Amino acid sequence: MYTSIVIISILLAVLGPPLKSRYDSVVFILKRRPDNLPSVSSFDSFEIKFEESIRNCEDVYMNDEDGFAVLSCDPGRDNWNTVMGTKIDPQSTGGLYLYNYADPEATPVLLNMVNFPKDRDFHPLGLDLNPGTNQLIVASHASQGSGLEIFELDRKSMTLNHRHTLMDPRLPTPNAVRVISDYEVLVTNDHYFRIHQNPWLALAETYLAVPGGTIARVNLLMLEVATVARVPFANGIALLNSSHVAVASTSTPEFRVYEMHSMGLNLTMSFATPFMPDNLNTDSAGRLLIAGHAAPGALGVVAKTNHQYDLDGKGVEGKAAPEQRPRAPSWVTEWDGNMEGEMKDLYLEGLPAEKGGYGCSSSATRDVGRGVGIITGLYEKGILVFKTS
Ligand SMILES: *[C@@H]1O[C@H](CO)[C@@H](O)[C@H](O)[C@H]1NC(C)=O
Ligand SMILES: *[C@@H]1O[C@H](CO)[C@@H](O)[C@H](O)[C@H]1NC(C)=O
Repeated sequence: MYTSIVIISILLAVLGPPLKSRYDSVVFILKRRPDNLPSVSSFDSFEIKFEESIRNCEDVYMNDEDGFAVLSCDPGRDNWNTVMGTKIDPQSTGGLYLYNYADPEATPVLLNMVNFPKDRDFHPLGLDLNPGTNQLIVASHASQGSGLEIFELDRKSMTLNHRHTLMDPRLPTPNAVRVISDYEVLVTNDHYFRIHQNPWLALAETYLAVPGGTIARVNLLMLEVATVARVPFANGIALLNSSHVAVASTSTPEFRVYEMHSMGLNLTMSFATPFMPDNLNTDSAGRLLIAGHAAPGALGVVAKTNHQYDLDGKGVEGKAAPEQRPRAPSWVTEWDGNMEGEMKDLYLEGLPAEKGGYGCSSSATRDVGRGVGIITGLYEKGILVFKTS
């Protein structure tokens, strides 16, 4: 992380003062020491579950009508992360899990992928389901090229029928997906430069908050893609209501609200966040849940070193005991959706290793009616399941 601060200092010297103020706020977060963060939990109770069966879950889709969730998990991220630049080996791939959380006894079940192309690997990030059509759209950073994998979900047989792989120059770095109609999705692309191809330019793009990321509108019938907005490090995306959408800008760091219209998106407001926001989800009460990273330096260390630990307990020679691995803090807030509204901390945990908390929060959802929520962690074992009244 120190190198990153040196790099941005040099770049700022070259590029001049207009960037100074955002530099200050970003450096404040970059320099933050996780052990100075307080522990906050606004939940009635929470439990870290399924630590032995799932890990590295980036995103979660929640269906609060039927009480199920789909989790996007990839232990292979330890060796292959095209957002953060880990490039060891793409072979070990990820999977999608169906979790009937309405049943307190349920455990996540790996969905069986049918007709998935044999010559592609699967590294799932953001996902969304259209419950009307059962179409499940997943952003995947395959080593053969990033793209969208489009499946049809059959919950009875626990299968995902693969329908299409959509790769497009306007989807260079797909990260998060949101269904906006029966045949359309909005997709964020986190960067213009791909970190595996242009590591220095991708880093500069992140730390200088260059608007290289985009929001793309994808027509799933025609398989057509159009760029509708440019956003620095575009990440999570969520519908606030029928006309407005929120998008996380991880490097700025803030989330932005856009009004949707037939031609594209108009920016209406933006809200700063005290951490680097990752995925966004709305609940049925219209509140926006924002999960993200409080200390990107600590997250960077985890991304670089996680592969050195025997996290699946396979007794692999040369790998260190999993308890010794570094971890990174979690920060989850909610916004009530009002322009003058407030943000409230839901969960903040600085040093999960010592306190036994949950780290690397990357997505949070809540079923208001059942009083249950889920937080996923980009590099964590299991998921956090919380209860609220
Ligand atoms: C969006 O912005 C464009 C250009 O400024 C404007 O013409 C259009 O009316 C706006 N649309 C909405 C729905 O506000
Ligand atoms: C949708 O959400 C936006 C942003 O919070 C708000 O300004 C707008 O009034 C909402 N529209 C409706 C129809 O509720």
